[in-house]
Amino acid sequence: MEHYFTNNPDLKSELRTIRYKYKEYELTYLSDNGVFSKDKLDFGSTLLLNTLYEQKKEKNLKVLDIGCGYGFIGIALAKILKWKVTMCDINKRALHLAEKNCLENNIKAEVLESNIYENITNIYDLIITNPPIRAGKDVVYGILDGARDRLEAKGELWFVIRKDQGAKSAISHLEKTMNCEIVEKSKGFYIIKAKKR
Ligand SMILES: C[S@@+](CC[C@H](N)C(=O)[O-])C[C@H]1O[C@@H](n2cnc3c(N)ncnc32)[C@H](O)[C@@H]1O
Repeated sequence: MEHYFTNNPDLKSELRTIRYKYKEYELTYLSDNGVFSKDKLDFGSTLLLNTLYEQKKEKNLKVLDIGCGYGFIGIALAKILKWKVTMCDINKRALHLAEKNCLENNIKAEVLESNIYENITNIYDLIITNPPIRAGKDVVYGILDGARDRLEAKGELWFVIRKDQGAKSAISHLEKTMNCEIVEKSKGFYIIKAKKR
């Protein structure tokens, strides 16, 4: 069975374009078979973008979008909030699309292939993620737990997770090392902010 995180270069390519209007910004994303949310943007991802836009007012932030897919959140943040964005994923097709989507939306961002944080050497003001629930708990908790060591002292991890996909247990787990707060809830999706102690 194909998953959105499986690298399969033989999977037939059927490019499509997803358009998204946010405030006065028009964003365009190329998508394809074999990537997450290939036909329409994920509600959780749009909620995370909107919550960051409404609540995170600092400028010039250095941000890592881990599990970036074709770049929806990272590119929107670079375009709208002018943050300095790095995007990484394990899925090569998604990364190729993310690179094209940077050009398409006229933004500069770093795009890296990385299994969780394997190739991430910098530290960030903000790490954001819509984690790959279907990849399993080891990967999801690998992303959440690994954030702490890749954040500046006042850095924050922001992520979206559905209540019925383990939001409460993810919070209890992360609370062992970080201070967590639910900053938004909508349609069963939670946006969680975790700060270093
Ligand atoms: C739920 S999707 C979110 C995609 C994108 N950020 C969005 O909001 O549309 C999770 C992403 O994590 C990626 N992923 C899965 N396993 C991974 C791993 N071990 N390391 C890095 N990324 C991974 C998947 O390929 C997928 O693109």
